[in-house]
Amino acid sequence: MKSVGTYPSTRLRRNRKRDWTRRLVQENTLSPSDLIWPIFIRDGKNIKEPIKTMPGIYRYSLDKIEKLVEKAIEQKIPMIALFPNTPFYKKDNRGSEALNRNNLICKALRLIKKNYNEIGIMCDVALDPYTKHGHDGIINKSYVDNDATIKILVKQSLLQAEMGCDVIAPSDMMDGRIGEIRKALDKKDFKLVQILSYAVKYASNFYGPFRDAVGSNKLLKSNKKNYQMDYKNSKEALREVALDIKEGADFVMVKPGMPYLDIIKLIKDSFKIPVFAYQVSGEYSLIRKGIDDKIIDENAIVESLMSFKRAGASAIVTYFADEIAKKLR
Ligand code: PBG
Repeated sequence: MKSVGTYPSTRLRRNRKRDWTRRLVQENTLSPSDLIWPIFIRDGKNIKEPIKTMPGIYRYSLDKIEKLVEKAIEQKIPMIALFPNTPFYKKDNRGSEALNRNNLICKALRLIKKNYNEIGIMCDVALDPYTKHGHDGIINKSYVDNDATIKILVKQSLLQAEMGCDVIAPSDMMDGRIGEIRKALDKKDFKLVQILSYAVKYASNFYGPFRDAVGSNKLLKSNKKNYQMDYKNSKEALREVALDIKEGADFVMVKPGMPYLDIIKLIKDSFKIPVFAYQVSGEYSLIRKGIDDKIIDENAIVESLMSFKRAGASAIVTYFADEIAKKLR
């Protein structure tokens, strides 16, 4: 490396001596444009319901949504992600509620799109918020049936697109679903609806609080290891991404975030496609708890988000989005 000198003529601390010089040499930046804000929605009226395992995060009834969207726009957050807490009585084994034109997601999309066009909305495509067993697809002989599930996911995607969803985000990890969804969208003239593939989604222990938030945690009996990736693997992530690019993905997600920075970097270095990171619920709650209990300083939030930028992420899905956007401006 040519830039390496020797002490004492070279002193790296010189460039760190004051705030202004540290700013001059900073290699990465974080702005509200890097953030995607996940929002949990529920039925009812005038409700802001705390989620026990996610301190500071709430489930909102739909009448509260517009205020949140306005806040996001004001803070220059480019996109929100909607997640539904479906009442148990609406769940079944096939996730039929996912295809109901009046489900929470469809209602929210109509409501938001009627008045706001300057913010992106992304929606998960997967069946877990709607199934009685908490799995992302339908089950056939105790196995999540790939091809039968795709047929439903395609319908779910078309419905969301019709309701005004900007970014379809399949998080189900079925093989081949990106291609099928792209084909169906194009055929129905949704050519400009984007696909954010959760291409690299690990079977992770960090999703627990999210499953509480959408109400699938207690329902889920086994795990998701026969469709989500094994966290012992990294090269397999390259195959997942290569396939999804070929099938028409516009961006790819790596999930969870901080334990998988190596994967973000690997993908960024290997493909020319925007990579997003998902700082998932378990990561959020650990950091939040650490701050609330005075174990770590609150600047740890920005530090955690900057690690994604260093690794090469274009944007970060984070439950801190709203709080941090305010600070960054
Ligand atoms: C479900 C889905 C999950 C998350 C986003 N979409 C959980 C899962 O796969 O069980 C996790 C997000 C988080 O933990 O914040 N398809």
